[in-house]
Amino acid sequence: MKTQVAIIGAGPSGLLLGQLLHLQGIDTVILEAKTPDYVLHRIRAGVLEQGMVDLLREAKVGARMDREGHVHDGFTLAFNGRRERIDLKSLTNGKTVTVYGQTEVTRDLMQARSEARALSIYETTDVQLHDFYRDQPRVTFVKDGETVELECDYIAGCDGFHGVSRQSVPADALKTFERDYPFGWIGVLSETPPVAPELIYANHPRGFALCSMRSDVLSRYYVQCSLEDKVEQWSDERFWTELKSRIPEDVAAKLITGPSIEKSIAPLRSFVTEPMKFGRLFLVGDAAHIVPPTGAKGLNLAASDVYTLYHSLRKTYHEGRNDLLEKYSQICLRRIWKAERFSWWMTSLLHKFSDDPFNQRIQSAELEYYTGSLAGRTTIAENYVGLPYEPIE
Ligand code: APR
Ligand code: PHB
Repeated sequence: MKTQVAIIGAGPSGLLLGQLLHLQGIDTVILEAKTPDYVLHRIRAGVLEQGMVDLLREAKVGARMDREGHVHDGFTLAFNGRRERIDLKSLTNGKTVTVYGQTEVTRDLMQARSEARALSIYETTDVQLHDFYRDQPRVTFVKDGETVELECDYIAGCDGFHGVSRQSVPADALKTFERDYPFGWIGVLSETPPVAPELIYANHPRGFALCSMRSDVLSRYYVQCSLEDKVEQWSDERFWTELKSRIPEDVAAKLITGPSIEKSIAPLRSFVTEPMKFGRLFLVGDAAHIVPPTGAKGLNLAASDVYTLYHSLRKTYHEGRNDLLEKYSQICLRRIWKAERFSWWMTSLLHKFSDDPFNQRIQSAELEYYTGSLAGRTTIAENYVGLPYEPIE
């Protein structure tokens, strides 16, 4: 079997890269370990930066997002018993974010791939990457009990944090940078109307809370929890009571609760791999980096990696440019580190780290300072809507 670009992983990174390359007549094969159903039922992020919205439109998968997604002009920070709205639109010359679930993005991309009759092979096992430091890389995998070999020009490792791509690189060829946080988030999805039209991020003495949404009838809420906590210890009732105690009273009074249709606990982590290119292997999205979810940057960073790899490959194939792929790591990492910084900072600003009253006063002063200054609100807004993509020229 032969293709131009072998893509490992059918999450948003792999599917979006595949779709953009397909529109340029560049052949791809996607290998995915799970079933399509499994991939579609992972509940993940839901806030898209303008750059990602534009890229989805360029990939011709933006129609449903444009119909059903909700454009948000701002969000609210709640702390010390008060609320400050960050007016994204006015602070960034008209930029906004769009609330549209990763699940929906994935569904639209899967549909486009099947309409394009491009090959995705699900439920593959024992995926192995070979010869990516040579001119003719190969990927082998097992499907229905048979070993298959896929020859290619390039391999895109879009297989997430636990994938095989990063693990295939010799240990001395990469460096990783990591920070774990001493808490997690428990998230609940419920078929209830959102408590407010925009997102509310709350800093509270009991810990962080977030009110988010997927649509007019589907809400997503989170509260900071202990890393030792198990989902079974969090009945719906305990979750709603805790959420209400951490958000402003008048908001809590309006909260409509209902049975959770999904509930999960996630640890918070910052992680970056350098470089992201190893010969003809390119790491994309969660395979190369993780951010804590405060600030909603994970999916958006995957999209900016895809943008960079897609344009570099397009110009390599169609214009004979052989310099661009060499710059993939540097271009991606410049933007990634800035998003890592913002996600780390939002996490530090909004969570309860300890009972130390000095830390709490500093956090409080930081919130007062940033929200009370035009420069402070602007820096929050321009990072939240997403820093610009570097043109690939
Ligand atoms: N072989 C084939 N596929 C694999 C392998 C493997 N060895 N290991 C993992 N995969 C698949 C996973 O099953 C998954 O479907 O790779 C896919 C990776 O998808 P994601 O984890 O969603 O990562 P990515 O596509 O980079 O998406 C960006 O950023 O912050 C997050 O929520 C955000 O999940 C989103 C991610
Ligand atoms: C979500 O809706 O899942 C969400 C929104 C904003 C975040 C993180 C998660 O910062």
